[in-house]
Amino acid sequence: MTRSPNSSTLDFPAYRNQIAGVDVAKLAQDFGTPTYVYDLNLIAHRISELESFDVIRYAQKANSTLAVLDFVRQHGVKVDAVSAGEIVRAMKVGYRPGQENHDIVYTADIFDRAAIEMVVAHDIHCNMGSPDMIDQYGERMPDRPITLRINPGFGHGHSQKTNTGGPQSKHGIWHEQVGECFARAERYGLTISGLHMHIGSGTDFEHLSQVCDSMETLAREHHAPIKTISAGGGLPIAYEPNQEAIDLERYYDLWNGTRQRLQNELGHSIELEIEPGRYLVAESGFLLTEIRAIKEMGDNKFYLVDAGFNNLARPILYGAHHPISIGSSSQSEPSHYQDVIVGGPLCESGDIFTQEEGGFVTSRRLPKAAIGDLLILERAGAYGFVMSSNYNSKPFAAEVVIREGQSHLARKRQSDDDILRGEEIPW
Ligand SMILES: Cc1ncc(COP(=O)(O)O)c(C=O)c1O
Repeated sequence: MTRSPNSSTLDFPAYRNQIAGVDVAKLAQDFGTPTYVYDLNLIAHRISELESFDVIRYAQKANSTLAVLDFVRQHGVKVDAVSAGEIVRAMKVGYRPGQENHDIVYTADIFDRAAIEMVVAHDIHCNMGSPDMIDQYGERMPDRPITLRINPGFGHGHSQKTNTGGPQSKHGIWHEQVGECFARAERYGLTISGLHMHIGSGTDFEHLSQVCDSMETLAREHHAPIKTISAGGGLPIAYEPNQEAIDLERYYDLWNGTRQRLQNELGHSIELEIEPGRYLVAESGFLLTEIRAIKEMGDNKFYLVDAGFNNLARPILYGAHHPISIGSSSQSEPSHYQDVIVGGPLCESGDIFTQEEGGFVTSRRLPKAAIGDLLILERAGAYGFVMSSNYNSKPFAAEVVIREGQSHLARKRQSDDDILRGEEIPW
């Protein structure tokens, strides 16, 4: 299937014979199924689109596979970590810890014990999401710069579970407590070098301009001598054909306006950061599965594949929609379609990829397929593999990256030993 890596709206093919120039049948033959396949070219393209920002900081929670992380690092992108484990991953691919360039930033609402020890041991810059973090950090690491992640009092998100602001969100420092946080920081000699808001406005520019205004007002009210402002993540991608692509220029202009006005007032330069996860990696990811059963239940037809919500949880978690294609060895357009429900192998009725929020099962019009055909869950590169579980004692899928038309194994499928590792029968 051909497509231009420059198009902001990629196609939604019903049949797919290739991923990034490699035959899907060959990928399945070489690596088995279920397997995540990532088109690295596409990640490079998404990075290049954001180059007007001074710093692109990858929110690796979206996909922290080492090969992906290293690829992103090679393209000059810094990294966000939300746990000790993500700091380990960042360092493993060569991100330098320390305060010099803030290559790695720890952003969270708490320090669990492992995280505080990790940021102390490696002097990692911290973006505080709660007042308590300031005390816990200040006691161990005084006289350093920190940044504040602020909850401006309102939010946005594609589902209740992804809403990142407002009084029902646990994220960030409540906007009315920012002054108190400046005072807390001062007690430890900590300077607040930047402000951060991750609200996820998507394509809603009215909302985004409220976020920018809120950032500006807070910086002004507190006479914050900040050196960075971060727009957070939340850049959307289209999961369905009718979804519009984000207008990046408009998005940048809004944030840049805020940055410039603050710069003029403060009389020094301010770096503008963006912290995308999904935008960089979602479209690059394809979950390759095999159809293992085709069932009829009353009027409904089911394609049951060998990947389940243990591999891709977004549909069961949020009712998320992923484009689906059938792997094909032919170049021709499919001639027969049918409405099908796509499900996985798990012993759980919610193990359905075609469902809406609330668990309502829906069907999808897909090409007629047979047992043994490949079915590809597309745009699965963000919040896909990272949310894997071993539910039903299923192994994590393999992961493959495609670079310059060559496929490479990035992670082996888990073995039975991997699944049992660490367990003991204590008698
Ligand atoms: C603080 C922060 N930054 C960035 C992101 C990345 O968001 P997205 O993948 O929507 O760009 C998240 C996601 O939850 C986040 O919490």
